[in-house]
Amino acid sequence: MADSTRQAGSVAVIGSGGIGGYLAGALERVGRDVTLCVRTPFDRLVITDASGEREVPVRVVADPAKVGPIDWVLVTTKAQDTASAEPWFRTLVGPTTRVVVIQNGVGQAERARPHLPAEVAVLPAIIYCSVERTAPGRITHHGATRMSVPAGGDGAAFAALFAGTPFEITQEADFVTVAWRKLLSNAVVNPITALTLRRIVVFNDPAIQDLARGLMDEVIRVANAEGARLTGEDATRVLDSYRRISGDGGSSMLYDRLAGRPLEHAHLTGAVVAAAERHGIAVPLNRAILALAGAASGQGLAGDR
Ligand SMILES: NC(=O)c1ccc[n+]([C@@H]2O[C@H](COP(=O)([O-])OP(=O)(O)OC[C@H]3O[C@@H](n4cnc5c(N)ncnc54)[C@H](OP(=O)(O)O)[C@@H]3O)[C@@H](O)[C@H]2O)c1
Repeated sequence: MADSTRQAGSVAVIGSGGIGGYLAGALERVGRDVTLCVRTPFDRLVITDASGEREVPVRVVADPAKVGPIDWVLVTTKAQDTASAEPWFRTLVGPTTRVVVIQNGVGQAERARPHLPAEVAVLPAIIYCSVERTAPGRITHHGATRMSVPAGGDGAAFAALFAGTPFEITQEADFVTVAWRKLLSNAVVNPITALTLRRIVVFNDPAIQDLARGLMDEVIRVANAEGARLTGEDATRVLDSYRRISGDGGSSMLYDRLAGRPLEHAHLTGAVVAAAERHGIAVPLNRAILALAGAASGQGLAGDR
């Protein structure tokens, strides 16, 4: 593991979607040396948030051969694309590099670990931030700027990296509970918005609230079998927060379905169902959602011809 007292600020962000683009913009604004490592090249990174529209003068690189070892690597691909970042890991990661996997779901560090040298520090991070990539290089921030990482030297160094940005970084002693609490929300809001093609206001429908409550009851049983400490109050808080949302906030799975991109369901609802199987817990509602999201992730009628 890298020396946690080392002051370092060069950052590579792998993935230029909503999260990667927004984090790159936040770090660039406080003077960090940021490289955006992209799959699909674009001309300009433009971020729109409550303060207006801003072009971010960030270095954009599409070829892993054009970069070298760096202090921080932030992985912001969808969970299912983590392995495809391996060519970037090969050139960006040196012995003192810290890798932070910023994704929804659980097991973030475990997903990246097989693709990295054994001695490299890998930190999981949960992000609370509603951002939408409206076109390549065009990012709209809808709200929230917070991340959680496990407590410890690397977590503290990560918090220092974001000093001066709008991001509040919380360092958590019980990261398992934090990750499952976020999954409690994502296993509901992501598939329901993506399957109904509605934004979060769909949760004002009482029938959707009932479905969400049933899904969350199952997730809580599985989460606690995995070592988390969740209760029905966590589910109530999630539902209350959705009912308060009146604007145009959606979910990353909704944005992906609208854009015809693959969905992340296998690492959200799929993670719940897989853990349920390990513990022998029945999760019929989550199984039904997993089947529907899997079918919706295909090409629809065009692909059925
Ligand atoms: N968006 C949100 O509001 C939000 C909120 C909280 C958490 N999250 C989570 O944060 C993670 C990232 O979500 P997101 O919304 O930012 O996803 P996204 O908009 O789909 O962005 C993912 C980016 O990763 C890029 N990518 C994929 N494989 C790559 C590779 N091998 N090399 C370089 N770039 C690669 C994609 O490239 P292309 O441009 O070619 O597609 C895309 O730009 C997900 O786990 C999501 O669940 C998202």
